[in-house]
Amino acid sequence: MIRNERKKLLMRFKSLKGIQDILPPETHIWQRIEHISRDIFKKYGYKEIRLPIIEATDVFIRSIGETTDIVEKEMYTFTDKGSRSVTLRPEGTAPFVRAFVEHHLYNEPSPQKYYYLGPMYRYERPQAGRQRQFHQIGVEALGVEDSKLDAEVISMLSTLLKTIGLKDVQLEITSIGCIKCRPDYRAALKEFLRDKLNNFCDDCKRRYDINPLRILDCKVPTCIENRKGAPSVINFLCDDCKKHFEGVQRYLNLLKVPHIINPNLVRGLDYYTRTTFEVKSSSLGAQNAVAAGGRYNKLVEEFDGPPTPGIGFAIGVERVISLVKETPHEHESPDLFLCTLGHEASEKSIVLAEQLRNRGLWVEMNYDESSLRSQMRKADRIHAKNVIVLGEDELKKGKVVMKDMQGKKETKVELDAEEILKVLQKKK
Ligand code: HAM
Repeated sequence: MIRNERKKLLMRFKSLKGIQDILPPETHIWQRIEHISRDIFKKYGYKEIRLPIIEATDVFIRSIGETTDIVEKEMYTFTDKGSRSVTLRPEGTAPFVRAFVEHHLYNEPSPQKYYYLGPMYRYERPQAGRQRQFHQIGVEALGVEDSKLDAEVISMLSTLLKTIGLKDVQLEITSIGCIKCRPDYRAALKEFLRDKLNNFCDDCKRRYDINPLRILDCKVPTCIENRKGAPSVINFLCDDCKKHFEGVQRYLNLLKVPHIINPNLVRGLDYYTRTTFEVKSSSLGAQNAVAAGGRYNKLVEEFDGPPTPGIGFAIGVERVISLVKETPHEHESPDLFLCTLGHEASEKSIVLAEQLRNRGLWVEMNYDESSLRSQMRKADRIHAKNVIVLGEDELKKGKVVMKDMQGKKETKVELDAEEILKVLQKKK
């Protein structure tokens, strides 16, 4: 009864909705993906940048856009003890550009290439593929406007996803133009929406005057239905944007990166100009984007930096992992487990374990006075490859027996780190 009460009490403490613990052995997959990413980024000259997970709220409002879902509905915003409005980062590009300007990184030789990984926070309704805390691995490349850089960034993303083991994903690209082509498109879109506006949700009605392009990203079913047939920005591109987009396609073809052009691709962030893209998977259901990004040629100026074009992407690690379908399993097991009988053996064991670890082995040992049987059971449970039993007799003779837990073969060996290492190395 008391135990049940206690259990109930303990269960009161759970992680927050949409915010998950990541436990071993799944962490192994995370490490693998992080390792592959770092490895690939290095070959393209990207350096790691580590950014705070909390920023002044304005950092996000100014960049992501006041009328976006992220800013209007999804930010974890609160007032800190100094009465400042602060926000847990919902994405990495805005904090990155804030840091880029703050630390004058634009003075570095261009393109300036950086990558980051870490948690992001969006207060969305949790569902498959959508968490409130999720992780992104992102890159940002600045200082070059040429479409070769767009193609290089997209090609790197494609290589990254392939190396991780993702199959059946589709890369969609488009161009959303620049400030030069936007006014004509905006006018055409407003014209199209004018007579239908009554059928749209209140948010869309409000967005019509302030930022009509946002109506294209509304998730309300009636709004989706009513905006069908809306003009596409791709038909309004100015000559420079057209040329740039043709360049992106030409270089992607040259690099043999499969892609389709989706003129209806809409990104949920306002800072993009020209190239935008998403990698989608049909196995993911409603939340089908595993990675997404685009160019942002005006964002650095928005943060009071010098005119500096930029482009980047972020992959959603949880979504990628759900597609890898790798059965999480322990890829490694301890080389050796030291069973101990008695105080003296315990003392010898703690020293021996350390000596062997310093020589590169994974060694586990017994820490208490449990029976030999229970120690052997434990060695078995953690899949130790070898076991040594250390008792009074072994200490006296200076010799131990090493038991191979799979072949069950026994080898006599001197009670000495170097000798034990030699035997274990022979087995590897
Ligand atoms: P985003 O499209 O908002 O872009 O997010 C990028 C990726 O993060 C998505 O494709 C998805 O895989 C993942 N993601 C987003 N929200 C969630 C969620 N609630 N749960 C799980 N995964 C999620 C950006 O964040 C831009 N900063 C990308 C970028 C970098 N553009 C230029 N540079």
